[in-house]
Amino acid sequence: MTFRGRFSDSLVVDQLDKISLSFLVEDLDVRRGGCGANIAFGLAALGEEPVLIGAVGEDFDDYRSWLERHGVDCSGVHVSETKHTARFVCTTDAAQAQIATFYAGAMGEAREIELKPIHDRVGGWDIVLIGPDDPEGMVRHTEESRARGYRFAADPSQQLAFADGALIRSLIDGAAYLFSNEYEAALTEKKTGWSAGEIQQRVGTRVVTRGADGVSVYEADGSVIDVPAIAGVTPVDPTGVGDAFRAGFLAGLGVDLPHEQCAQLGCALAASVVETTGTQEYRLDRDSLMGRLRTQYGDAAASIVVDRLPRFRGDL
Ligand SMILES: Nc1ncnc2c1ncn2[C@@H]1O[C@H](COP(=O)(O)OP(=O)(O)OP(=O)(O)O)[C@@H](O)[C@H]1O
Ligand SMILES: [Mg+2]
Repeated sequence: MTFRGRFSDSLVVDQLDKISLSFLVEDLDVRRGGCGANIAFGLAALGEEPVLIGAVGEDFDDYRSWLERHGVDCSGVHVSETKHTARFVCTTDAAQAQIATFYAGAMGEAREIELKPIHDRVGGWDIVLIGPDDPEGMVRHTEESRARGYRFAADPSQQLAFADGALIRSLIDGAAYLFSNEYEAALTEKKTGWSAGEIQQRVGTRVVTRGADGVSVYEADGSVIDVPAIAGVTPVDPTGVGDAFRAGFLAGLGVDLPHEQCAQLGCALAASVVETTGTQEYRLDRDSLMGRLRTQYGDAAASIVVDRLPRFRGDL
């Protein structure tokens, strides 16, 4: 929601213990989101067959239809009998100050989900990405992946602010991939007490995104691949760029691309998100994706789309 005035004009400093405020807002936008759903949406657009796992409420029906229509398997989604789907509600004022609330709701039931029955039913998977979720659920899914030998990618992002060092260590140890942005990378080192080198020894590949400055891929052998972001993009709304990057990178892994090209595909998908409002509202067509890859990274990168993404769906 957008409030045309300023929150600060309504706050009475010596009455803060009795706050009772209501703001009349003019705009209300309701958007789809959630890291897991955003990543799954992007994977499906690029032709993969993602399986979304998480916990929602009975209000999920419309969102489920949307995701399934766009190629996301929602059969691993648990529906709570008592709680609503997690929701982030935010009001921004004319000075860009924000008052926001996050309702976790049904998300807390993610800890009740066991991966193996889903794994067996869908006929297996290449990799499990454990994104920000109910912290106990994240730990459970990470432990189960380690115990059963599922390759997994750690993407704790938003939960790093809440998590302590022990929790973060348990989420990243043994991951095939660790994704974070630059700030989260520093926070991970600070909270775990592990240096960059120590983290590298516990994960296969570490991927650090740097907004408009692109991404660095740190390989297990000590080499680093720097990939620039797509240039000339007019940023409209950065929400969901990190998720789109992960979708592109993982879709590249799904078709056995080298990491450099995975990162290029990630940057290209992220560029589509940063230039649109919302996280699943971008238009993706074959020609513009190829054009973007060709202009920024050359013909070899552009040929990914034709040669390696035969099941590319775009935003059907
Ligand atoms: N202004 C931009 N122009 C072009 N590409 C961008 C821009 N901002 C982000 N990207 C792309 O998105 C990727 C991820 O961005 P960033 O590092 O900001 O993620 P993030 O902080 O996790 O974002 P969020 O959590 O808000 O989704 C970058 O590596 C880059 O490829
Ligand atoms: Mg992020």
